[in-house]
Amino acid sequence: MKKPTKLFSILLLAIASTLIAQPDDTLKLKPSYFEVNDYVEDNEGCFKCHGEIKYLLEDVENDRSATKRMAPCKIVDRDKYYTSVHKSFSCTDCHSYDFMTFPHTMDLRFEENFLCMDCHGYDETYAQYHFEEIEKEFSESIHNIADFTCWSCHDPHSYKAFMRNADDLEEAILFDNNMCLRCHADYDRFAQKTEREEIVVVESHDWLPNQTAHFAKVRCIECHTEINDSILIAHKILPKTEAVQRCTECHSKDTRLLHTLYKFQSLEERKGGFVNSIMINNSYVIGANQNVWLNRLSLLVFGLTLLVIVFHTYLRIRKQKKS
Ligand code: HEC
Ligand code: HEC
Ligand code: HEC
Ligand code: HEC
Ligand code: HEC
Ligand code: HEC
Ligand code: HEC
Repeated sequence: MKKPTKLFSILLLAIASTLIAQPDDTLKLKPSYFEVNDYVEDNEGCFKCHGEIKYLLEDVENDRSATKRMAPCKIVDRDKYYTSVHKSFSCTDCHSYDFMTFPHTMDLRFEENFLCMDCHGYDETYAQYHFEEIEKEFSESIHNIADFTCWSCHDPHSYKAFMRNADDLEEAILFDNNMCLRCHADYDRFAQKTEREEIVVVESHDWLPNQTAHFAKVRCIECHTEINDSILIAHKILPKTEAVQRCTECHSKDTRLLHTLYKFQSLEERKGGFVNSIMINNSYVIGANQNVWLNRLSLLVFGLTLLVIVFHTYLRIRKQKKS
């Protein structure tokens, strides 16, 4: 009598799981994933745990299982993964095949990861990105400390070359600033890399009026890097004492924003008489948005006014002399 009941319950479970799990699973795998990646099904072998907030821990030997929570830092977002620069990769292109078994072994916890340069260094295909120059800049930056690599800013599972392809500059600014705030607004991550006390970004910048407006319109790297016109994204983060604090570095006609944030567009769009015309579309930076013709017009108006006053005075003097 015992066996059939067990069989029946297994059958019920199977039906239930097709009813519940299937629609869910198909929803998770969007057609767009298959367009960019040939290993979507394989990757699900990892995503079934690493794509969820909880996973099923199975103890086959003792025939038991339990639902466990996945640590947030070990969750990979499918949507972000399949739109990142490495969207076509299988997880095991970068990670060992041995990760397919769980529990992962001790050896795997010491896995050495490939660095950007291992794949992109001195490769003509990626010449436009200037990896070598960027690596040099990074080595001279304040983040060149133990356990800090390119991956510390470039999340391996979500990084996009946003700025280069951005239609919406403000969105790109947000993306780039979040790369910094990943640590500078998350003390746990920060503390993993240093012994230093917590830095509260909002407090360190309390000299800057309207921080919200500024942080939405400029990137952290505008003020924190050395200008380098040979690469699109300057990577040499300077010590804080060398950060830009003078308002006129941006709020002036030869604003540094043309060498940083608006680098790409500024050369093409210096047209129509507007000095820094590119910026008009994006923001009004007091002191930096000026127009040559408007400037000349106001000079003309000023000159004419002066002329009228002089003429008027002359007439009055003549009239006085006559009477
Ligand atoms: C059964 C669920 C499960 C599956 C399947 C799984 N993982 Fe994991 N993985 C975990 C858990 C839980 C952790 C964190 C705790 C641990 O390391 O045991 C982890 C940790 C990791 C880590 C971090 C290791 C470290 O340094 O601490 C990596 C990397 C990783 N998994 C990659 C993968 C890859 C790649 C795959 C697919 C080939 C995969 N995992 C499949 C559950 C799983
Ligand atoms: C382009 C290479 C690359 C690909 C593809 C890749 N990873 Fe990773 N992954 C890395 C690197 C590098 C790290 C270590 C990050 C660091 O040092 O900050 C990492 C770390 C991890 C971690 C540990 C995170 C932590 O903070 O402990 C997990 C889990 C993980 N990967 C899972 C996956 C899964 C699942 C996939 C496939 C969906 C995948 N990875 C695909 C490069 C990659
Ligand atoms: C394991 C090798 C590997 C590593 C490590 C790696 N990449 Fe890549 N990367 C590739 C390959 C291969 C492509 C092309 C993918 C494609 O076309 O689908 C690529 C594409 C890119 C692209 C887009 C290039 C383009 O023109 O489409 C950028 C940007 C990029 N990687 C940046 C990085 C950065 C930054 C790092 C380190 C943080 C890094 N990569 C680490 C192999 C790698
Ligand atoms: C302190 C954080 C940080 C570190 C460390 C870092 N990067 Fe970047 N990187 C950025 C930011 C921010 C961007 C801009 C992302 C975007 O395109 O919107 C970027 C962009 C890039 C780009 C794209 C440039 C382009 O022309 O489109 C490449 C390539 C790159 N980084 C390579 C590297 C390499 C190689 C390393 C390590 C030697 C590295 N990065 C370390 C923050 C960092
Ligand atoms: C308008 C220019 C500007 C912008 C934008 C800016 N910073 Fe700063 N930042 C500075 C200056 C100047 C200092 C030094 C302030 C001081 O020494 O009192 C500084 C200090 C810092 C420090 C060190 C603080 C300390 O107390 O040790 C960090 C970390 C920092 N900034 C991170 C960021 C991040 C992250 C962003 C983007 C969200 C950002 N900054 C945006 C100008 C800027
Ligand atoms: C992986 C975490 C991490 C990320 C991402 C990160 N930082 Fe940092 N940052 C640190 C740590 C850790 C320190 C302290 C370094 C030390 O020990 O001196 C630091 C220090 C700084 C300082 C202070 C330097 C000084 O002179 O005191 C500035 C400024 C700074 N970061 C800016 C940035 C900017 C801008 C970005 C983004 C482009 C960024 N950071 C991304 C971890 C990070
Ligand atoms: C890194 C470049 C940069 C620096 C440095 C900078 N600003 Fe700005 N500022 C901007 C940009 C870009 C905007 C445009 C914001 C917008 O479009 O709303 C702006 C906007 C403003 C505004 C208008 C804010 C609003 O409410 O819309 C004021 C006021 C201002 N800045 C004052 C200052 C002062 C004072 C300093 C020096 C302490 C300073 N800024 C330093 C780039 C900068």
